[in-house]
Amino acid sequence: MNATSLAAAAAATAFGDAGCIEVQPLTRRAPAAGEIEVAVHAASLNPIDVRRRGGYGRRMFSLLGAARLPLVLGNDFAGIVTAVGRGVSGLREGDAVFGARPPSSAGTHATHVLVQARHAVLQPAGQSHVRLAAMPYNFLTVWRALADAGVAAANISGRRVLVHGATGGLGLLAVHLLSQWGAIVTAVGGGDSLALCRAAGAEAVLDRHGSPLSALPRHFAASFNFANWDDDALLLRCLADGAIGHATTVHPMLGNIDRFGLLRGTLANMAQKRRMRTIAPPGARYAWTVFAPDRDALRFLADIAHALPVTATTQFPLAGAAEAHRHVESRRGRAVLLPVSASA
Ligand SMILES: NC(=O)c1ccc[n+]([C@@H]2O[C@H](COP(=O)([O-])OP(=O)(O)OC[C@H]3O[C@@H](n4cnc5c(N)ncnc54)[C@H](OP(=O)(O)O)[C@@H]3O)[C@@H](O)[C@H]2O)c1
Repeated sequence: MNATSLAAAAAATAFGDAGCIEVQPLTRRAPAAGEIEVAVHAASLNPIDVRRRGGYGRRMFSLLGAARLPLVLGNDFAGIVTAVGRGVSGLREGDAVFGARPPSSAGTHATHVLVQARHAVLQPAGQSHVRLAAMPYNFLTVWRALADAGVAAANISGRRVLVHGATGGLGLLAVHLLSQWGAIVTAVGGGDSLALCRAAGAEAVLDRHGSPLSALPRHFAASFNFANWDDDALLLRCLADGAIGHATTVHPMLGNIDRFGLLRGTLANMAQKRRMRTIAPPGARYAWTVFAPDRDALRFLADIAHALPVTATTQFPLAGAAEAHRHVESRRGRAVLLPVSASA
């Protein structure tokens, strides 16, 4: 069978609801220097994909060439290398790889994707494509959030950390990593999933539906917001004097630029950050974290992937991409697309 004839992608043909997602033929090209082509066996569909489909971040992503229609979403991939460009070392055709690419208009929700070789690593043994595809985007964002807040294994052992949104994909990874580093973690999240936070090492859990954040004591050395921008000030008020820092992934950076344009949006971002810094204890870092690929972190992820908790995912063929969008959008759980196996 000719692989080219099977090439397809799930693309948003307009900005709007899940009905905008259509499976279309994909034109493949040979990888350029430094690139590899990967046959995508699994690609996760994250909340950001749903939001980008609806137009979120469109102004900023346009500047990066990442908002062109038809828009193929998706950052994570796990699959098999099918072609290698000039100057690539360490990866060959037939290798099983996984990784995360930066936002683009030619994402991983496709049977084949071109990625920079530095955004991929060899898969660790004994891990499925599906499990590995669910990790990189979340892990790399959490890894950056930890660094942005100034938190590392060397300075957090034995100290208290607050994780808001701990029952989500990012939060659960953060609880696990921080607990491994010896931090005393309080996990805030929703209902039954809090048991997963306990299993990941949290010492205390708070059900966000039953207890207000304002009830938390002001004794944390660091805090992370993976849940809700409106709670950022409350979380900062939970930091003790001498705290290390706070990072949030749910900041209004892209939203401000969507609303006000690049210049006024950037000024609004600066003003909001300045205001929040006045709430943080003196000396504590305050950061808005943004996902970015990171090869060293990806290599580290490959080493520890077997031990990481992953939130439950439902698998969809590429032809079911619109349904997968609805699944994530209605908060029924995570979704992973299976592009190659669906079309083979
Ligand atoms: N800045 C970046 O580059 C970047 C990168 C990755 C992710 N993100 C963002 O980071 C956030 C977390 O990502 P994720 O993949 O972990 O999402 P997720 O799996 O949907 O988890 C979200 C978490 O936040 C909680 N939550 C949701 N709405 C809330 C509210 N109104 N008040 C309090 N808690 C609330 C959820 O609790 P329940 O379990 O009760 O629903 C859950 O614990 C998302 O908003 C995502 O878009 C940003």
